[in-house]
Amino acid sequence: MNDPTLFEHTSRQLRNLCAEAGFPASDDTPVEMLGELLGTAGNRRLSEGPLWPSDVADDATPVEFSVALDDTGDRAVRVLGEVVAEKPSMSANVVAARRFLESMSERLGIPTERFEAVEDLFLPDDPQGKFAFWYSMIFRPDAAPKLKVYFNPGVRGEGRAAELVAEGFRRLGMEDAYDAATEYSVSRGELDKFTFFAVDLDDSPLSRVKLYISHFSATADVAVQASQAVDGLDRDGISEFCGLLGGSTESFDGRPLVSSYSFVEADPKRPGNYSLYLPIRDYVADDVEARSRVVSFLENRGSDAAGLDRSIRALTDRPLSDGRGLLAHVSLRLGQFGTGTTIYLSSEGYEVLSARSDARTAATSTHS
Ligand code: TRP
Repeated sequence: MNDPTLFEHTSRQLRNLCAEAGFPASDDTPVEMLGELLGTAGNRRLSEGPLWPSDVADDATPVEFSVALDDTGDRAVRVLGEVVAEKPSMSANVVAARRFLESMSERLGIPTERFEAVEDLFLPDDPQGKFAFWYSMIFRPDAAPKLKVYFNPGVRGEGRAAELVAEGFRRLGMEDAYDAATEYSVSRGELDKFTFFAVDLDDSPLSRVKLYISHFSATADVAVQASQAVDGLDRDGISEFCGLLGGSTESFDGRPLVSSYSFVEADPKRPGNYSLYLPIRDYVADDVEARSRVVSFLENRGSDAAGLDRSIRALTDRPLSDGRGLLAHVSLRLGQFGTGTTIYLSSEGYEVLSARSDARTAATSTHS
């Protein structure tokens, strides 16, 4: 298969990841859902290039994989994806993405009440920004797949993001969540920005609403400060995470650190969890360096570092020194709904980001 289609390429990666995570090989659901999400865009050959400049991944592949490692030892395989219409545009993609949800809801009984409560807010006729909505499909062995939607707070213009987020929480019965989430996280003006408003589409009591905030040009202390909204967290763990994964980085001036807060209906006044996302690809020379930092971090936490290599090899056999960004982000999850680490892995369907031969030398010289 020299020139696979987007679906062939990504479904092979997903099958391998699921096998690696211990899913029964007979379970075709993840791949079938991926096929529905990609729609006709999935039939396009990779050599034809991306149909739509999706911001899901740097090379415009409309999906990104992640492996979530819970500290309990459980793991989940997830796919972040953008539905791309046959004739894509911001509004055509929204129409196609709604169709995907209808189909998933019929097929898997995904409840859509929470989506319906906020859709007119976040899905205007003329969406602005880089995307209108994305999905995350969450797979665990022997469990029904779950779906989460990501909305863009800037979809009616950046100037209205705060208003949309506050109203979104209100519609979901979480009046006080906006104040709780912004108390420690948006003190730096334009440098702190609402990035995603995400809603779990399930009706369990632990179904979450999450707010993501990007911190541009931030130090680890900005994240430690943002985490204050959640009581009783291991704040040293946050500094350690930034130190081990950022290398010699003091101020994260490339792609931003991102904070997220999770709220559940049972306790809508305070976030139960805090997560921090670090776009490691902007702070390494290549994936060799990214991998070794992630391995140190996982070993330090007592997590399964060998699993990382198996996940990497589920996606690609390219030498890690050939590029950068296969390891796109790493996140740390802290709080009462469970702690753990998530590794975000790029599909690299269209392109491998080039290594930065100068970066490692630069990082070394600041040490000497
Ligand atoms: N590609 C975008 C970015 O890096 C969006 C994105 C994809 C993202 N996966 C993510 C953002 C994980 C934060 C965390 O910003």
